[in-house]
Amino acid sequence: MAGAGVVHLSIMPEHMAHVTAHGLALLVFGALQIVWILAALRWWTRPVILMGVALSAGLILLWVLLYAIPSPFIGHLPLHARILDRALIVSKLLEGTAAAVLIPAYVMKTPSAVGMSRFLQAGAPIACVVTGVGALLWIVAATSETLFPVFSVSAGWPTWRLNQMRPALIAPAVRSSASLSGNSAAYDWDLPQGFPPPRVPEDNPMTHEKVELGRYLFYDKRLSGNGTQSCESCHVQTLAFSDGRRTPIGSTGEPLERNSQALVNVAYNATLTWANPGLTELERQILIPIFGEFPIELGVTSHEEEVLERFRQDERYPQMFATAFPDDPAPINFRNIVHALASFVRSLISGNSPYDRYVAGDKTALSESARRGMELFFSEELECHHCHTGFNFTLSTVHAQSTFSAAAFQNNGLYNLDSAGAYPRGNRGVYELTGKPEDMGRFRPPTLRNVALTAPYMHDGSIATLEEVIQHYMAGGRVIEEGPFAGDGRRNPYKSGLVSGFQLNEQEIADLIAFLESLTDESFVTDPRFSNPFEEKALDQIADR
Ligand code: HEC
Ligand code: HEC
Repeated sequence: MAGAGVVHLSIMPEHMAHVTAHGLALLVFGALQIVWILAALRWWTRPVILMGVALSAGLILLWVLLYAIPSPFIGHLPLHARILDRALIVSKLLEGTAAAVLIPAYVMKTPSAVGMSRFLQAGAPIACVVTGVGALLWIVAATSETLFPVFSVSAGWPTWRLNQMRPALIAPAVRSSASLSGNSAAYDWDLPQGFPPPRVPEDNPMTHEKVELGRYLFYDKRLSGNGTQSCESCHVQTLAFSDGRRTPIGSTGEPLERNSQALVNVAYNATLTWANPGLTELERQILIPIFGEFPIELGVTSHEEEVLERFRQDERYPQMFATAFPDDPAPINFRNIVHALASFVRSLISGNSPYDRYVAGDKTALSESARRGMELFFSEELECHHCHTGFNFTLSTVHAQSTFSAAAFQNNGLYNLDSAGAYPRGNRGVYELTGKPEDMGRFRPPTLRNVALTAPYMHDGSIATLEEVIQHYMAGGRVIEEGPFAGDGRRNPYKSGLVSGFQLNEQEIADLIAFLESLTDESFVTDPRFSNPFEEKALDQIADR
């Protein structure tokens, strides 16, 4: 019991930062558990034992119930959709052991010290063996699919629960180095309510100077080999930094396989791009559009000196680089370009949609229809919120105080080329990197913030509208009748058990769309801090004349 109390108190600060009510509840539970152990050592009476039962079995029951009943924290932290992390497993096992000891103690009416020792002799070893075996089974089931075939990917409801646990258990090993920290005191994030401070690498702390330099670079076509493209060519502010195309074309005309991702709260993404569990740092990801050759995006490779020279000759950049990197004697280099761009991308935080205002207490922020859509979105029938979860509407979230990292990838049944689950070559999700069959078609669930602006949808832009997205989930997968991609995605064996189809009438579809539209943050897509500084300049000049 004391152990469970310590766990509760140790995870309390993180949750306090996230959702205050949740943090306070943990504080109360933890404190009560510690107080109880002191009381039990002094008075071993039936009322005290009963309180112990409530604090161990009761808390387990409460936790189970929260999976079924929507909690008041819905949206910013749906408890019933959260990921099982190690702290949770440890505290529930400790509480389980306490309950296994206390419930028989209460039932057997052994309040006296003699009864207690007799009970402990007979009951405690059994209780320990039972919980020990339970713990072992749980961990095996959570970490391995092969050892526990019953819970294979295509099975029913137990699958997704375990699928969610697995990354939480494995992630600490995969998680990138300890160089990550929340140390960014100098920078004022101006975070929306309920948003924890993002993670920032220690060697690239946020500063306003770097963010501003990154903004110029983001919009500067001189950052491409042939001077024709900038980051903005594929990430447009008015479209929440997506590009409205199915798939983009690089600066030299090469087509890309994947849809340009919206850049919305990227700072919180546990992994970057559509399906790469190993890519966790923006400083590494941004090298891809700049230097990548398969395919070429900005195409800077073998034009490095030329690009740097353009910036050195510029009237503005030498000063901006010097201010952003004051300790660097020759600051115009690619390390600093990448650091500045990463800082700018991290600053793209969006959390001021009508939905957020509604959650913050403005009951008029959402229409009737959007409110009904919200109920549907968070319902157990539609299941959306299990994959599009938490304050950023994605399973894939980390922040400065995370004690766990959730690098979750899911298959939502878009393709089934060979009836054995195949996705089109080159776009097979995590499978492209791991070659493991179970990773076929697994992609990162994107954030749904600003989703109304980021059509077309999915990793390959193959769904045109939100209405069609909903039809896709209603059918429990996509059927393609003919052509090279023909196949029945509903029967993809690697599809998540959560995408199993449901019925909605016309009104309900409209309601769900209204809810998704309520996630659009107008202030984000018009924020002058994120806009094209070159156009601003041009406008100023026009105004001057
Ligand atoms: C030619 C189009 C194109 C250009 C130019 C481009 N991007 Fe992208 N960007 C993409 C595509 C496509 C993806 C998804 C890649 C994938 O999943 O493989 C992406 C993904 C990203 C991501 C990952 C977002 C996430 O949520 O994981 C970031 C960050 C990003 N781009 C930033 C940039 C920056 C900064 C630049 C300029 C240096 C840039 N991009 C230039 C097309 C482009
Ligand atoms: C099993 C997890 C899972 C469930 C349940 C789920 N999604 Fe998704 N969602 C995903 C994944 C993964 C993708 C990306 C798939 C891809 O690109 O191949 C996605 C993509 C989307 C997109 C496209 C976003 C974009 O930017 O391209 C929308 C919109 C969406 N989901 C809405 C919903 C709605 C609404 C529901 C409930 C009816 C729902 N999702 C249920 C995992 C899920």
